[in-house]
Amino acid sequence: MSLVLGIGLRSGTSYRELRDLVDSALAGLEPAGVTLIVTVDGKETEPGLQRLAASLGAPLFTATKLELSQQPVPTPSAQVDRLAGTASVAEAAVVLTGAELLVLKQASARATVAIGRLPEDAAAESPVNEATAAPGYPVGERDVVHRVLAERRDVRRGFLDRPIADDVLTRVLESAHRAPSVGLSQPWDFVLIRDVATRRKIHDLATAQRDAFAASLPADRRSAFDGLKIEAILETPLNIAVTCDPGRGGRHVLGRHADPRTTWFSAAIAVQNLWLAARAEGLGVGWVSFFEPGEVAGVLDLPAHVELVGYLCVGHVEQFAAAPELVRSGWAARRPLSWAVHQEAWGQRGLPGVEPGAVISGDATAATGEVQAGGAQTVRLIVAEVAAAAQLEQAEALVVQVGAERPEADYGVLWRPARTVDEAVEHGVEVARDLVLQGVGTIQLELASDSAEAAGMARGVRLGALACGVAVTVASLWRDRAPDEPAEVTHSSA
Ligand SMILES: Cc1cc2nc3c(=O)[nH]c(=O)nc-3n(C[C@H](O)[C@H](O)[C@H](O)COP(=O)(O)O)c2cc1C
Repeated sequence: MSLVLGIGLRSGTSYRELRDLVDSALAGLEPAGVTLIVTVDGKETEPGLQRLAASLGAPLFTATKLELSQQPVPTPSAQVDRLAGTASVAEAAVVLTGAELLVLKQASARATVAIGRLPEDAAAESPVNEATAAPGYPVGERDVVHRVLAERRDVRRGFLDRPIADDVLTRVLESAHRAPSVGLSQPWDFVLIRDVATRRKIHDLATAQRDAFAASLPADRRSAFDGLKIEAILETPLNIAVTCDPGRGGRHVLGRHADPRTTWFSAAIAVQNLWLAARAEGLGVGWVSFFEPGEVAGVLDLPAHVELVGYLCVGHVEQFAAAPELVRSGWAARRPLSWAVHQEAWGQRGLPGVEPGAVISGDATAATGEVQAGGAQTVRLIVAEVAAAAQLEQAEALVVQVGAERPEADYGVLWRPARTVDEAVEHGVEVARDLVLQGVGTIQLELASDSAEAAGMARGVRLGALACGVAVTVASLWRDRAPDEPAEVTHSSA
């Protein structure tokens, strides 16, 4: 039987408390049967929960508050609804997966758990669900494909001192070589690099780029980055450089004439095929892009018409983490799927079967996250119709240009041409979320335009900051302020 655990928890809940709660709720059900853990967005970085997932060997997935709030639950709680924006995180998380609820919500001091039986078992037994399976892909096999997709990880640690057998590597390369490509041009090649001297040279290039990136970061973002491992060039027995020959296939490549970028898309898909096939073989793959591609080309003696697309470190690993390392370390977070799916045209967001709407601002409004300690960084966020050169010279500032005209400068300007106020609000939510995820704890918001779109952007920034559960102070809201006029504090969301 495949079980799913739905878990709601307060920040800082210990592994011990979670494990005791889960063991008591399982009451006779096999812990080994747990194949999935689901919680609400943002809690996946909780160390106690991460450890629980690792101890049960089950992947950890998250759902948005909005998704959870839409699930009917047998044991709703008005208090949880008020605090978490959904009537029961634990039960809703189980129901969302399509599982049958076996154990209703049980609570400890700081956490709740509910247990469900996943439909894959029901599906395997049910002729109705089996009938929906594609020909040649019984439900169980179909699920394995989705499992490989979900459990592929970018791996940089924990490589084993074990060579990769030739037949294993050949299978992986065959899968990579089966990738779709524009006009069947197959623009990729795979350079297999085992020689330590060559890998040392490549490692030196990556180290130089790492240092340059670190130097470009604000102090506390930099200390977070210092704790991250960004490559495993020397720890893996094999590196693979995936290249692209943009001229492959000659002049009349079907489908490339209108969009030459399709050649590079094709090579990138070959990398993804390789990555997935490697996962199924127990091989970890880490993609390293801390390079100036021409320098790698020089070390590998690539001909001038061939370009580097991906540099991969490959080796056997004992286990694959349940969530991306950047999520586990708190460096980044996943964007909810419902924000990325638009129905018919841009902006009508929503998952299949759900009435489309203003999902981003709706989610942000519904979120009443617990306020946690915010990052130490401060960012001056200047919302302008058109970015002014003087604004771009301020290193601590991020200029968001809401006007329709594409900015001339690439750096320091985030172009978010808002066509409506609603769109501006959504852009604002996303900008704030990205900043908070990057360790920003204070946003000093400056409106350099009095357009309705700029005001909408400001509203979205405040909404998004609050929704992230971080005490973000919108310190100043300046409108047409003379240079020597003191900033007027008009809003504080701390
Ligand atoms: C084009 C590309 C370049 C990447 N470059 C690096 C890199 O230089 N260093 C690194 O540590 N991870 C790199 N990654 C890995 C991403 O950080 C990783 O895919 C992402 O955090 C999601 O984690 P997951 O792949 O485990 O799901 C890269 C990924 C891609 C697709």
